[in-house]
Amino acid sequence: MISRIPRLLFENILVPVADVLTKSVSNFAGHKSDQSYNSNATRVSTISDEEIEFYLNLKSAVLLLCLALCIAGFSVLMYFLYVLVFVPYNRVKRLGSIGYQNHEEGHLSKKDIANLVRRRRKVGDDLPPVFPNGWFRLVDSQQLEPGQVKQVTALGEHFAVFRSKSGKASILDAYCPHMGGNLAVGGIVKNDCLECPFHGWRFDGDGKCVAIPYSEKIPTFAKTKSWPCREVNKAIFVWFHCDGKEPEWEIPDISEISTGKFTYKGRVEHHANTHIQDVPENGSDLAHLSHLHVPHAMSGANLSTQYSSWWNFAEHIFKAQCIGPADGEPHISLFYLTHYLHVFKRFKLLSLNLNVYQIGPGIVHLHFDSPFGKGVFVQTLTPVEPLHLVLTHNLHASWSIPVWLGRIFLYLEAIQVDRDVMIWNNKTFEPRPKLLKEDSLIAKYRRWYSQFYTENSPRLTLKSEDGNGW
Ligand code: FES
Ligand SMILES: [Fe+2]
Repeated sequence: MISRIPRLLFENILVPVADVLTKSVSNFAGHKSDQSYNSNATRVSTISDEEIEFYLNLKSAVLLLCLALCIAGFSVLMYFLYVLVFVPYNRVKRLGSIGYQNHEEGHLSKKDIANLVRRRRKVGDDLPPVFPNGWFRLVDSQQLEPGQVKQVTALGEHFAVFRSKSGKASILDAYCPHMGGNLAVGGIVKNDCLECPFHGWRFDGDGKCVAIPYSEKIPTFAKTKSWPCREVNKAIFVWFHCDGKEPEWEIPDISEISTGKFTYKGRVEHHANTHIQDVPENGSDLAHLSHLHVPHAMSGANLSTQYSSWWNFAEHIFKAQCIGPADGEPHISLFYLTHYLHVFKRFKLLSLNLNVYQIGPGIVHLHFDSPFGKGVFVQTLTPVEPLHLVLTHNLHASWSIPVWLGRIFLYLEAIQVDRDVMIWNNKTFEPRPKLLKEDSLIAKYRRWYSQFYTENSPRLTLKSEDGNGW
């Protein structure tokens, strides 16, 4: 039956189409019209052999062209299906992509508007420090192959993140202690070491210099700073402490990821222009869940311009319950979140129950249970500059959630985060918010979060005339 389908398509669609096209071209070229031929190209009137040959050649050419177009269209369709079904989602929204559409400087590029808004932002004196102490993601594991080095700028530092040939990830200061060459730009991974591109000094993962090409002796001062590094849950993290203290806690390993029970389904990445505390604080802001995130995701991010009443029939309903700090682990805060799509105010679809663990200032694990299976969103937040953050959500889930379904989960999540980014990109940090009784969780959350700042935590200082400061 299936093998007959291509033949039927060929005979009933391609051949008639080719016939019509051939006759049109033939007529256009001034040859005899279809009255001159029957379907077998038998001569029924006085026409020359050359004309019959021309017609048959033309018909073959048109048939071949139609066939080629069909194959090309089919290949494109197959490619899109392949991407949809097998390739994990990867959506990146850079600074300037979201939330700057309504500004009066519409003639400027989004990037220029983003910079303008950043420059003009009203920043009070009471802004909390911009780089808290904790673990921060620098790259995803799959973004760093063995033998590869990457430069990452974050937390006011320049890091050279490299993976040895044997697979171990390490993080060194990007600037070489010899004469300041950048180890991550042009540097080469040689076995377990990183070689500087400038004069060839070679450093191991602990920052120790193990070879200098033009010297037999390696002095003890020949070493560079090695940053505490962990590779866990398919990402590489650096420990940042303003006083250079060693890690005070560890990132929980999600056993379903490390044992392969959950597999990778994709990621979304947002760049946001806001203070780092605004992002995790979102979880304790219950009122915004019942306002900003209620309209259906298909209404888009900017509800003032994209909202469509066509999608009124369905709303996202969120409910949250704060549990508070985990026992014996004050750096972890737990809350429960439930979500469902309320359709025609009667039916509940896409139910999700989430256990949300905020781990330090830059990591959130959102474990969910859905009718399709279980999974976890690993959320990370890294300040690349004082008010410029990179927020990632990586989805790992059970086999029952295929990649295409993971795409839908991630897309819906991404639109909701787009809405937050639109708010963050344009708001100011309010150190003394006017909170109602119903907002009390926000004050509680701020007290909890303050544990990640210490006396010397870096603060935002406006750029001074002499160029010092941020
Ligand atoms: S600057 Fe790196 S080896 Fe000289
Ligand atoms: Fe939000």
